[in-house]
Amino acid sequence: MADINSTLGMDTICLHGGHTPESNRAHLTPIYASSTYTFDSAEQAIAMFKGEEKGYIYARWGNPTINEAEEKIALLEAYGLKDSSGNPLKLKAILHASGMGAICTMLLGNVHAGQKILTHYSLYGGTHELVEKILPELGIGYSIVDFHDLSKVEDALKSNKSIALMHIETPANPTLQCLDIAALSALAKQHGVIVCVDNTFATPYLQQPFRYDVDYVMHSTTKFLNGHGTAIGGVLLGKDLDRMNKSMTKMHRLLGANSNAFEAFLLTNGLRTFTLRMERHCSNAQKVADYLEQNPNVARVNYLGLASHPDVAIAEKQMKHPGAMLSFELKGGFDAGIRFIDNLKLLTSAVSLGTCDTLISHPASTTHVGVPREERITFGITDGLIRMSVGIENIEDILNDLEQAITPNPSR
Ligand SMILES: Cc1ncc(COP(=O)(O)O)c(C=O)c1O
Repeated sequence: MADINSTLGMDTICLHGGHTPESNRAHLTPIYASSTYTFDSAEQAIAMFKGEEKGYIYARWGNPTINEAEEKIALLEAYGLKDSSGNPLKLKAILHASGMGAICTMLLGNVHAGQKILTHYSLYGGTHELVEKILPELGIGYSIVDFHDLSKVEDALKSNKSIALMHIETPANPTLQCLDIAALSALAKQHGVIVCVDNTFATPYLQQPFRYDVDYVMHSTTKFLNGHGTAIGGVLLGKDLDRMNKSMTKMHRLLGANSNAFEAFLLTNGLRTFTLRMERHCSNAQKVADYLEQNPNVARVNYLGLASHPDVAIAEKQMKHPGAMLSFELKGGFDAGIRFIDNLKLLTSAVSLGTCDTLISHPASTTHVGVPREERITFGITDGLIRMSVGIENIEDILNDLEQAITPNPSR
């Protein structure tokens, strides 16, 4: 079997990484639709339960289809990186039922009652609710600080010894704020605080947080990693292999946050073309941002590849490209937002992101409809804000649909 490791090219890893030849010589790893696995003997069962012999026991703990997706993503996040001894960095990935499942394993496995999570105000809504509403009931507190202001972060770490974990999401929804992973991680490490980065928006194609001494990376694989919008999933990655194999694995198993063979298969299949897709997503996004910036009906464009974005210097430092996510503010406010969505003829009106086709949403009338107006505006979710996950359609077709949908036309 070929040695597919993180020193090979990223395209090669996407295709061959994590693949183990299968006994029936199937070219692709099949969907292992079996809840349990058999033992040759009682001795073998004992050895497997003791961890002395490797093998599959029960599908909540893993199966070959899940394993391939995990190993592929671990190689992608470790791509080209070295450990402290100068050897290729080894990571362990645990596939989950969803991004939220991965966040739950990571938080519950690292933060205990009486301790706190330190995070930034711009977070995925589900993570925000988990930290703000669910975990406090278990005695786990939180502090929210503007992560752009490193002196405030340092003050929080100095004055609050109960902070156990720093959670960084960058770039963040929906204004594409970008946070300095190296600086934040260095501060956290000075205070013995664990660091996790949600790398969903960037993906390992654009940004590799393990470069900056973080402890964990997580993703909603539902997005660019799967790339086709066919399955919900999440992954937690860690470099402390002992901890990942013991306490994180235990937490994942006992929370029942496991993935399944079918969705893992869809993820692996999507990953095979991940780098090619990302290249096109990114080049299209830059062209869309340039077009929107000169459109007279657009008040503002939030894209990390435009000089007007306040975080452009951070993005240039830590990302290979500004990515495929952007948002823009229509001049006509809420009504213009609604009209724009209704006018779309080609591009898809849907929440979520990272699928091959362009997805467009109007947060004020959908994901944030229940958030009081003043509150959402503080988070940058203004009335006419449109979020766009730029797809891989032909760029002319994307631009033409945007043009006709943005242009105000009262007769429509
Ligand atoms: C940045 C980010 N993190 C986590 C999640 C949660 O992922 P999932 O929906 O797969 O549970 C999402 C979902 O949109 C997200 O955008």
